Amino acid sequence: MSRIPVAVLAATGAVGQRFVQLLENHPWFEIVAVTGSPRTIGKKYSESESWLLSTDIPESVRDLEVLPSTPEKVNTPLVFSALPASEAKEIEPIFAEAGTAVCTNAGAFRRDPHTPILLPEVNPEHIALIHAQRTAHNREGFIVTNPNCTSTGMTIALKALQNAFGVKRVFAASMQAISGAGYPGVPSLDILGNVIPYIGGEEEKVTWEPRKMLGKVENGKLEMADIGFSFHANRVPVIDGHTLVMTVELADSPVNFDLVADALSGYQSPAVSRTLPSAPQPPIRVRTESDRPQPRLDIADGMTTVVGRIRPDDLFDLRMVVVSHNTIRGAAGGSIYNAELLVEQGFVSR
Ligand SMILES: NC(=O)c1ccc[n+]([C@@H]2O[C@H](COP(=O)([O-])OP(=O)(O)OC[C@H]3O[C@@H](n4cnc5c(N)ncnc54)[C@H](OP(=O)(O)O)[C@@H]3O)[C@@H](O)[C@H]2O)c1
Repeated sequence: MSRIPVAVLAATGAVGQRFVQLLENHPWFEIVAVTGSPRTIGKKYSESESWLLSTDIPESVRDLEVLPSTPEKVNTPLVFSALPASEAKEIEPIFAEAGTAVCTNAGAFRRDPHTPILLPEVNPEHIALIHAQRTAHNREGFIVTNPNCTSTGMTIALKALQNAFGVKRVFAASMQAISGAGYPGVPSLDILGNVIPYIGGEEEKVTWEPRKMLGKVENGKLEMADIGFSFHANRVPVIDGHTLVMTVELADSPVNFDLVADALSGYQSPAVSRTLPSAPQPPIRVRTESDRPQPRLDIADGMTTVVGRIRPDDLFDLRMVVVSHNTIRGAAGGSIYNAELLVEQGFVSR
């Protein structure tokens, strides 16, 4: 089978580079175009920015010219977007108008009622919102987003609990990696040996997005999940991998607490997304050691959400720690998984 030609918009940044790395040997997609800001347009990709990853720049991408982010220049049926939200707001609808499928990391359209925030192991059925989006905007192309990188691991773990017991309220605090702020991101003098108890806009996103993803889509309409959230965002001097400490109140407390760990470790993605090339195997890994999960030790396979320290709580029902790779599962890998679902469901032609 020939691979589907794709472009990466903002291929030079932290998430753009992850796309370039993860798509190198992808069985379905082949990068034929990369875009950048006016700062890098016209340069060779390999000369456009510091390469941040431990693998080399793929040979097939090294010499591509960095293009402007327009459908005419890019000319592919599917684009992966790592644009900053302000740029995405202007540029992504232009691609959708031109008939392109846009899989984006940017937050610009996550609150749009016709735009799915997709996690294939959680809510693949929300893909149906694309029909409503096409009708609302009278266009063939469409935008599909993935969640904020901190909402990602949280929502995957909550989905397993929601299915088994129902979820009423969540209290959480994050310890978020520096790469979540992009490149060059947070100045080293601010973050080394330090904790910054503020990430602009993060608390609003992480208390809203899981409710959309854990909600229902019926007849093209979305009903948000009725779950209460309280969340504190913190930036810590970790390079990759966001850690969340979470306290959860369930709708039905389990009679036997072991059932909580069983619900998490036994969680299976819906059949439609279980065997796609980027499907995490397993979707959730439960660590039983008393000092795990840790970002340095537990993000190696990139797409799996790692949960540990599952224990009863005196105020709510349970406490747990969730670790997730922010630029892989929380960004580029998540978008690629979404695009695989779009192909599988016939929204993008092979
Ligand atoms: N980092 C994460 O963990 C993470 C996770 C989830 C979602 N996100 C989201 O993903 C997006 C990218 O984040 P990032 O961390 O990769 O940021 P970043 O490292 O700051 O990169 C942003 C890139 O955008 C490019 N750019 C700016 N304007 C452009 C335009 N008009 N056309 C094409 N490229 C343009 C810049 O390109 P030049 O190099 O050419 O100037 C820069 O490389 C953001 O929306 C962010 O919120 C990030």
